[in-house]
Formats: sequence, structure tokens, C-alpha cells
Amino acid sequence: MIELAPSILSADFAHLADQVDRATAGGGTVIHVDIMDGHFVPNITIGPVVVKSLRKATHLPLDCHLMIENPDQYLGDFAEAGADWISVHQEVCRHLNRTLNLIKSLDCRAGVVLNPATPVETLSEVLDIVDYVLVMSVNPGFGGQKFIPETLHKVRKLADLRAHRGYAYRIEIDGGIALDTVTEVVRAGAEILVAGNAVFGQGDAKQNASALLEAARSASLQRV
Ligand code: DX5
Ligand code: ZN
Repeated sequence: MIELAPSILSADFAHLADQVDRATAGGGTVIHVDIMDGHFVPNITIGPVVVKSLRKATHLPLDCHLMIENPDQYLGDFAEAGADWISVHQEVCRHLNRTLNLIKSLDCRAGVVLNPATPVETLSEVLDIVDYVLVMSVNPGFGGQKFIPETLHKVRKLADLRAHRGYAYRIEIDGGIALDTVTEVVRAGAEILVAGNAVFGQGDAKQNASALLEAARSASLQRV
């Protein structure tokens, strides 16, 4: 099943609840929340207090993408604030198995994220315990960047591995997803599509979300 996860990074933060409502009306079913610390990525965004406010503003699952160092230190805070899904970057987790199990012990879905330069093989020992794998199709840190098509083979690889080995994870993709890239992304096997700029950048978030979702769904019907 294809799902659209609008990323609030590109939303107007002074009207966040409103923007989330518009994207939801357009078919968004997961709200993607980008947490950046200015260390792992060269940008700073938001923390648990905003997650807590968002929790009251939407019934949709909150997908917290942690682009931070030492994620273990903050997992409890995000879970308590109302995160439903929490993903951590492979590149910062020295004890990835422990971190993923910690997320699950907090009753959240556990995801792991791969930067464009990080291979799928680095996850071979955790693919049986993750709920989702997030493939970055840009280098994390900013919205509105150009999609990196060379990352798509990782989506195909994850779909193949799952089919052949019976894993249960879902495949999410993040970065540069828009009307001109969504078809190839879905055909490669991505199921949860994060989109920031394409939903909130210009025009109406409801219309943008629904056009993107429609393009994604028609691509999934043509998947071979
Ligand atoms: C980038 C973030 C993304 C970002 C995507 O580091 O992880 O979630 O919001 O933005 P777009 O869809 O504009 O590329
Ligand atoms: Zn993200």
C-alpha cells in the first residue's frame, strides 16, 4: 500500500496545525517530522515540544526522523511527546541493535535510515527487527534538494531482499520526491513517500498532496 508522508519541514510553522490538516485532506496518512541537531546535519530544526503540540493537532501517526547524534539519549522524550514511529540513522548508531530495540520497547515503530553513501549491506543484521527502512534520496539536512537517482537501486535491493527472505519491513523514501520523480520511486518499490517541498512549497497543500498521491498510485498499478 502506498502512503504519503508530508514532511512539515517545508510547512509554515506559524500555521502548522492548519498545514497538517490541508495535507491530510489531500490524502497524507503519516506526518513526517524532521529532527535536526546541527551536528549530524548542518541544520537545526525542532524537538519534542513541537512533537507534543503536533500530537494534539492530528490523529495521524507522527513519523519522527532523527537526524541527530546520540539518539538513544532522546528516544524516551520523543516517545513521551507522542511519536509513533522513530527512525535513526545507521551512520550514528554504534549499537544499532540496542537502539532499535529501545525504540520498540517504547511502543514505537522502529526505523533505520540510510544516507545516500551508506549501503544496504550495513543493515544485514537488523533487517529482521526493523519495522521500516528509510532510504535517503538526498543528503539529509534541507528540504527542496535535488533527487539523487543513484539511490534507487537500494530501494530495489530492499524489496528483493524482503521478497526472498521473508522480512516484514516497509520501505520509505525521503528527499526530492515530487511529480517528476514519484513514478520511478514507486516502480522501484518504495511504499511510504516523504514529501516536503512538493506538498508545502507552493500552492495548496491539499491539492499538492492529492496530485502526488494520485501519480504514485497510478505508478504502483504499473509496477512490474
Ligand atoms: C531532509 C529531510 C526531508 C525533507 C524532504 O533532510 O529528511 O524529510 O523534508 O524535503 P523535500 O521533499 O523537499 O526534498
Ligand atoms: Zn526526513
